[in-house]
Amino acid sequence: MCDQHHWHEHDTFGFLVDAPAIRRLIDEVHRQAGIDDAAERIERLKPAFATLLASDGWLPDEYTHGDAASRMGDGIGQYALYRADDGSLCLFALVVPPGAATPVHDHLAWGLVGIYKGEQHETVYRRLDDGHDEKRALLEVAKEQTLRPGEFYPLIPPVDDIHYVRTTSAQPSISIHLLANDTACVWRHKFEPAAGTVTPFRSGYANAPCEQEAVDR
Ligand SMILES: [Fe+2]
Repeated sequence: MCDQHHWHEHDTFGFLVDAPAIRRLIDEVHRQAGIDDAAERIERLKPAFATLLASDGWLPDEYTHGDAASRMGDGIGQYALYRADDGSLCLFALVVPPGAATPVHDHLAWGLVGIYKGEQHETVYRRLDDGHDEKRALLEVAKEQTLRPGEFYPLIPPVDDIHYVRTTSAQPSISIHLLANDTACVWRHKFEPAAGTVTPFRSGYANAPCEQEAVDR
């Protein structure tokens, strides 16, 4: 990573993609900042999020393709669009090539996730164990759904926080995530439901460094 990229302050935090549709959503998040209840904040953010999904022309072409160097695997691209420098919020695009699937993973933050382009099949897991063994998890499928452009769902962990998605369209699926952490840079978890195993997981952004990467360079 350090040898391949020369990161600059302005492309690390803030608006990595500066477009009016993105600014309107982030402004709305800041307007709702005084509300402590995540469900209430999500409810109030839904109109601005829906407007972003319904708008065209704001996602740069280079962020509509997969990423061959993906740490998510399967050529999946994760592109930061906005990152708060205190780690309290991020907006990113996840590009999953046709037929590709994410690992089963968690997010560890509340937010909104929706489809911008293409179609995804989502499988959501319920955790049956108490989580005391950090290397083991007993999961069962809680629900499955197909998501099409404009459709989105709220995320309020721990409910429905563990899932994977697979692209079912002939073109890559692009989902937009507004989450209350710096999702690609926090250490979260990857699950193997059949084996019952959990491993630490940090997906990273294709277009911005995590803090440790910036320090390492
Ligand atoms: Fe996810």
